[in-house]
Amino acid sequence: MTRHLITSAIPYINGIKHLGNLIGSQLPADLYARYQRERGCEVLFLCATDEHGTPAELAAAKANQPVSDYCAAMHETHAQIATGFGLSFDHFGRSSSQQNHKLTQHFAGRLNDAGLIEEKNESQVFSVFDDRFLPDRYIQGTCPACGYENARGDQCENCTKQLDPTDLINPRSAISGSTDLEIRETKHLYLRQSKLRHKLDAWINSQTDWPVLTTSIAKKWLHDGDGLQDRGITRDLDWGIPVKRGDQPWPDMENKVFYVWFDAPIEYIACAQEWVDSGKGDNWHRWWRIDQGANDVRYTQFMGKDNVPFHTLSFPATLIGSGEPWKQVDYIKSFNYLNYDGGQFSTSLGRGIFMDQALEILPADYWRWWLLSNCPENSDSEFTWESFQIGVNKDLADVLGNFVSRITKFCRTHFGECVPDGGHYGNHETALVNELTQRIRDYENYMDTIEIRKASQELRAIWAAGNEYLQNVAPWTTIKDDLDAAAVQVRVALNLIPLYAILSRPFIPMAASRLLEAMNALGLEWPDNVRTALGVLPAGHPFTVPDVLFAKITDAQRENWQSRFAGA
Ligand code: 2FM
Ligand code: ZN
Repeated sequence: MTRHLITSAIPYINGIKHLGNLIGSQLPADLYARYQRERGCEVLFLCATDEHGTPAELAAAKANQPVSDYCAAMHETHAQIATGFGLSFDHFGRSSSQQNHKLTQHFAGRLNDAGLIEEKNESQVFSVFDDRFLPDRYIQGTCPACGYENARGDQCENCTKQLDPTDLINPRSAISGSTDLEIRETKHLYLRQSKLRHKLDAWINSQTDWPVLTTSIAKKWLHDGDGLQDRGITRDLDWGIPVKRGDQPWPDMENKVFYVWFDAPIEYIACAQEWVDSGKGDNWHRWWRIDQGANDVRYTQFMGKDNVPFHTLSFPATLIGSGEPWKQVDYIKSFNYLNYDGGQFSTSLGRGIFMDQALEILPADYWRWWLLSNCPENSDSEFTWESFQIGVNKDLADVLGNFVSRITKFCRTHFGECVPDGGHYGNHETALVNELTQRIRDYENYMDTIEIRKASQELRAIWAAGNEYLQNVAPWTTIKDDLDAAAVQVRVALNLIPLYAILSRPFIPMAASRLLEAMNALGLEWPDNVRTALGVLPAGHPFTVPDVLFAKITDAQRENWQSRFAGA
C-alpha cells in the first residue's frame, strides 16, 4: 500500500476565505486524502495558516490588535471553519510556529553555504515619521495612469496598472499618512535560483504525468518569463521569521525577516514536525527525508494556478539547493478559478459566499458536492445560485436522497425495519452487480488520477443505478404476487445504501455517516467485490429509516441568498 503525503496550499491568515479559495486547494485535497484512507493507504494530510507578510500586518492593524494575537485568534477561526467543512487534516499548523522558524533559518543557512544566496544593497522608501522602511504596498499616492488617489506602490486597484512606488504622485505612508519619505540604502538577501536552472529544468521535464495546467505554467516561467530571476527572500518587516543562518545571526540583517513566500512552503515540512510535537504523530522524517523512508512516499500537492510557479520553481530550488535529501513533490494538482454569479468573488466588496456564511445557511455536504462536482479543473468555472439549486436538488435530493427514503420506507411498511429474508438473484440483480462493478472500477481510476469532475459523474451514475434498478424490478408490484421475489429486491436495494455511503464518503462525509448509522452498518470496507458488498446487511439485520438526507433548496431561498451575497 502506498503511503500518501498530501498538502493543500496554506491559506493566508488575513480574513475568512471564500468558496473559490476552498475549491482551489483545501477541498480537493481533502477529497483525495479521504479517498486514499478509504482504500486502506497510510495518509499524512497537512495544511496550515500562512501567517506572515504585509497583509497579515495590515489586517491586524485594522483590527487594532498585536499581529501575534490577531494571528492566534484567526488561526482558531480558520481551524473551526475547516472542521465545519469536514476537512480531515492530520494537522493544521501555523507558518509562524517555532518549528518553521528553525527550519526556515536552517534552509537559509544551507543555501548560503552552497553559494546560492547573494547579499545586495538596494534603495528603498523609508518613512522618517514611522521610523521604518515601507514595503511597496505600504506606500500610497495618486496613480499616474488614471489619477486614482489611493493607488498602492505595487499596483493601482482602480485601473490595475502595475506600479513602482516611485511612479506615485504625492506618495505617503499608508501606515501614518506621513509624506516625510526618503530613499535609503538597505541590504537584502537574494536566492540565486538561476544557478539551479539545469536541475530544475531536468526535474520538471521528468514529470510526464502532471496535469497540463501545472506543466504549462511551470515551463512558461522556466523558459520565457523572468521566473528564474534571483529572488529577494527578505523584507523590512517586524512580523515574520528573523533572518538568521541556521542558529547564527546574519550580520547587517538585524530587524529583517524572511519573505512570506520563502517560509510558507517550508511550513509543509515544519507542519509535519508540529504534528509530531503535538503528540499526534511519531516520526516526520519517514514522510519527508528520502534517506529515512520517504522514498516510498507519494507526495501530492493541491493549489490554485497562481501558486504553481512557487511550487514548481522556488520551493524546489530551496529543497534542491540545500543539498539535503528532502522528499520532492510527485504530483501537483492545480486549479483554475471559480467565479461568482457573472463576476468574481471579491473579498473587499463582500461579493460571493465566504466559508463561515456558507456553513450558516446549509450543511457542509451540500457545498462539498456542488463545489467538487463543478470544480474549475480544466477551465475556470462559475458558481451560480441556479446551478447550485439544480445540483443539490437533482443529484443529492432526487437521486441519492430519494432512493434511500423510497426503499427504507417501503421496507418498513411491508417487512418492518429489518432486512427481509428469502428469494434468489435473477437477471436484474446480476445486471446490477455487473454495472456497479464496472462503474466502481472507473470511479476508482478517476479518483486515483484526481479527475474530480469525472469521478463525481461516475458516482452520480452509481447512485442513479439504484433508482433504475428499483424502477425496473418494481418491488411495489412484485409484492402483490411474489413475496420472496420482493424480499430479494428490497434486500439488494437496502444493501446499496451502505455501499453508496462508503463510495460517497470522500465527497459527502457527514451524510455518509448518517446513512451508515441509520443502516446500523459501521466499520465497513471499500467494496472491492460488489456481490460481497451487497450482502453486508444480511436477512434479519435491523435498521432505522433515516430522516430526510438532503432538503431541497426552494426558489424563495435561492432568491434570498442571491441578493444577500451580491455584495456592496
Ligand atoms: O495563495 C495563497 O493563499 C498562499 N498563502 C499559498 C501559500 S502555499 C505554500 F507555499 F505554503
Ligand atoms: Zn490607476
